[in-house]
Amino acid sequence: MATIIKAEKLSKLYKLAAEIIHAVDGIDFEIQSGEFLAVMGPSGSGKTTLLDIIGCLDSISGGRLEILGKDVSRLPERKLVNIRRGRIGFVFQDFSLIPTLTAMENVRYGGWLAGRNTSPDKAMSYLDKVGLAGRAAHLPRQLSGGEKQRVAIARALAVEPEILIADEPTGHLDSVNSQAIVDLLIKLNAKDGLTVILATHDIGLGNQCSRIISLRDGKIVA
Ligand SMILES: Nc1ncnc2c1ncn2[C@@H]1O[C@H](COP(=O)(O)OP(=O)(O)OP(=O)(O)O)[C@@H](O)[C@H]1O
Ligand SMILES: [Mg+2]
Repeated sequence: MATIIKAEKLSKLYKLAAEIIHAVDGIDFEIQSGEFLAVMGPSGSGKTTLLDIIGCLDSISGGRLEILGKDVSRLPERKLVNIRRGRIGFVFQDFSLIPTLTAMENVRYGGWLAGRNTSPDKAMSYLDKVGLAGRAAHLPRQLSGGEKQRVAIARALAVEPEILIADEPTGHLDSVNSQAIVDLLIKLNAKDGLTVILATHDIGLGNQCSRIISLRDGKIVA
């Protein structure tokens, strides 16, 4: 398997008025193509910060980071978009759907933002993949929480990504809907070979991933 993410002494600092926060504190790791990785740790341990820098949403403060064959260590935020566009898809805890667009339109818009021409047929195939072909014309407010998150996953698929990053994707869902989302991510990983990196508090969920990175105070503890 190919290494698609390589981090050496990776760090991210936040400078506030009186203090410096080491949100990610000099960590080394590699992620292989096709992995299903869980990033775990208590609140404030650096999971979101790590996912944001792996996803090229945020720049790093120190060390070295290679993503999809490119050294992004010194790239400013405005250049990072060129690395992630059309290659990395995102799913967030709060779904982040556009309330005035239907499920189908949200999926097409997600593809468009990534430079893809997502036809209605293609968008429907992504909705079908997440089991929501029957909800294409629904607005987000006409969908349940679990359905909203499945639309968000279909929107991420419209990016046609190599890496899917999911930050607490089940954080707002009950246990039945959480398991359905995890089952879907497992299927996308196993059947389509999509690399999935997921942050979660839920050890039951983490244990279903192929590997766990545990963070504490920005450091890897296991
Ligand atoms: N933009 C920011 N500016 C300053 N400090 C920040 C910023 N974002 C995060 N931090 C700090 O960095 C540390 C790590 O935060 P992060 O959001 O990565 O944690 P987390 O593991 O995702 O937590 P949670 O489980 O609550 O989502 C925390 O101490 C947080 O207060
Ligand atoms: Mg977080």
